[in-house]
Amino acid sequence: MDLDHLRREYHKDGLPLEKLDDNPFKQFEIWMADAISFGLSDPTAMTVATVDSDGQPAQRIVLLKQFSEAGFIFYTNYGSRKAAAIERNDRVSLHFPWHEMDRQVHMKGVASKIPRSESLKYFLSRPFESQLSAWASRQSERINSRQFLLMQLESVKKKFADGEIPLPDFWGGIRVVPTQFEFWQGNVSRLHDRFEYRENENTDWDVSRLSP
Ligand SMILES: Cc1cc2nc3c(=O)[nH]c(=O)nc-3n(C[C@H](O)[C@H](O)[C@H](O)COP(=O)(O)O)c2cc1C
Repeated sequence: MDLDHLRREYHKDGLPLEKLDDNPFKQFEIWMADAISFGLSDPTAMTVATVDSDGQPAQRIVLLKQFSEAGFIFYTNYGSRKAAAIERNDRVSLHFPWHEMDRQVHMKGVASKIPRSESLKYFLSRPFESQLSAWASRQSERINSRQFLLMQLESVKKKFADGEIPLPDFWGGIRVVPTQFEFWQGNVSRLHDRFEYRENENTDWDVSRLSP
């Protein structure tokens, strides 16, 4: 399929350096608030890229559930492919593709599991069905049919019929502590605005404009 006729101009307001906060976490908070009020359907959806032991990158979308200067947290199955990759190589990258706003944010960072007590707090806040699904799915494992999955669900429903559903020991949060951020704003004539924040030895952030 030839797709080269599909093109559009990017002409939002642009991003001057003066508009950027010195602190990339604050800048991210401003952009996340913009993305939510803009009405993006999944503003918290981000791509997480990991690298396997053979150097092969892999990516998938997850939902960002919390962020602060301590890091960016998503929840997943600790037996999944992404969790196994992180176990071997804790370097990851995150990407927020906010197309409709002509914006994207990239981060590079280091991933680790969060304490079980924090995962438990979040798990208990999830809808009942999501709690059951966490138990029913051994994420990333090969299965023979959807029927198998439904049977697993029925069996966990029976198992936890009376009472609270406990946090599975194979499920929880992963925190990514960023060491680098890039904020990208589309601009006219493909001369987009890009700003990179890199952590320096004073645990402060140096900001540089990058060529588009
Ligand atoms: C919009 C969207 C949100 C998702 N959110 C999550 C999530 O928060 N956690 C998760 O483990 N998988 C999530 N998934 C599924 C993942 O993309 C992926 O299929 C799954 O985690 C297995 O990945 P892995 O085999 O590379 O570990 C989401 C998928 C989509 C499309």
